[in-house]
Amino acid sequence: MSTTKLFEPFQLKSLNLKNRIVMAPMTRSFSPNGVPTDAVAAYYSKRAASDVGLILSEGTVIDRVSSSNDPNIPHFYGESALAGWQQVIKSVHAARGSMGPQIWHMGIMENHHSGWLPAAPFEGPSDLARPGFSNGRAMSEKDIENTIRAFGRAAADAKRLGFDCVEIHGAHGYLIDQFFWEATNNRTDIYGGKTLSERSRFAIEVIKEVRKQVGEHFTIILRLSQWKGSDYSYKHAKTPAEMEAWLQPLADAGVDIFHCSQRRFWEAEFEESDLNFAGWAKKLTGKATITVGSVGLSGEFLAAFRGESSNPSSLDELIRRLDRGDFDLVAVGRALLADPLWVTKIRDNRSDELKGFTREALVELI
Ligand SMILES: Cc1cc2nc3c(=O)[nH]c(=O)nc-3n(C[C@H](O)[C@H](O)[C@H](O)COP(=O)(O)O)c2cc1C
Repeated sequence: MSTTKLFEPFQLKSLNLKNRIVMAPMTRSFSPNGVPTDAVAAYYSKRAASDVGLILSEGTVIDRVSSSNDPNIPHFYGESALAGWQQVIKSVHAARGSMGPQIWHMGIMENHHSGWLPAAPFEGPSDLARPGFSNGRAMSEKDIENTIRAFGRAAADAKRLGFDCVEIHGAHGYLIDQFFWEATNNRTDIYGGKTLSERSRFAIEVIKEVRKQVGEHFTIILRLSQWKGSDYSYKHAKTPAEMEAWLQPLADAGVDIFHCSQRRFWEAEFEESDLNFAGWAKKLTGKATITVGSVGLSGEFLAAFRGESSNPSSLDELIRRLDRGDFDLVAVGRALLADPLWVTKIRDNRSDELKGFTREALVELI
């Protein structure tokens, strides 16, 4: 099948991409004390030089004492960390790439395996990371207000440093998703409620603040997932109507692109059609969307963490959906982590040179 559509340019507000391939955000934990190093800049600029259309950074955390559970995850605040990010975007632009940071607050977390702890307890809508697992404290309304401001400051810094867009991490069971989820949001104030729409208030306020800080023309991406690390089959929205009620207010608040995280992009979101999450999000809101999940690989990423290897696989089904207009952009995670040249090899039809993915690829930044 022809990959022509994958290599068409894409333009939306501040984004001018040479093709439709996005490097998915991937935590690497190679930023000691939260400061991205020259090796981190080299890792991203290598992908930019090898034709990745848009690079989304690994999750990088906002200015809250307990926004991270790992001292090697990059910060997106403070002079040294922002100077590190400045180097990253300079090198990516020098390699003719485009990039946005993925702005993150982890919420209630498990302690890091190293025993490292932040200087304050983890914080979330409640003290729960998932049903039955408590490790921290429920945020006050003042904490929530300060956290919303910290998301806004990070987005403003992304724009000031010269990034091309910003992505807000609202997926995978972290802080914003903990607000969405009824199992972790048992609040009785305005940030809680029986419906998903009521529990979306925190996310909506984050997006509005981010929009206020970056202005109308800067592209805002919101990453969402139905699944959580603790429950792969969970769905916030069980029907298209529920999905519309979830996504439309987020679109109205300022989201330009929904990044719809699935473990396998080809899985239908609802029974009535073969559309995936990104397909439904585009159809329901009219916004641009990014799909993701096992593109070009035989196995999915959470199994990969448990040691399962993945072999290269055909892009035909992906292309069928892209050609049909289901989504605008395609994010690729592990294939690009393991092989900086993945995009070039796809473009030049060098499929016999594709590498697949093994867990060893996580050990170093190549
Ligand atoms: C090592 C690794 C780290 C990841 N870290 C993040 C992250 O920081 N933020 C995020 O939203 N997703 C993260 N993910 C999920 C990826 O962005 C992507 O959705 C997932 O790997 C599926 O894409 P793939 O099948 O092409 O690998 C991570 C995945 C991997 C493999």
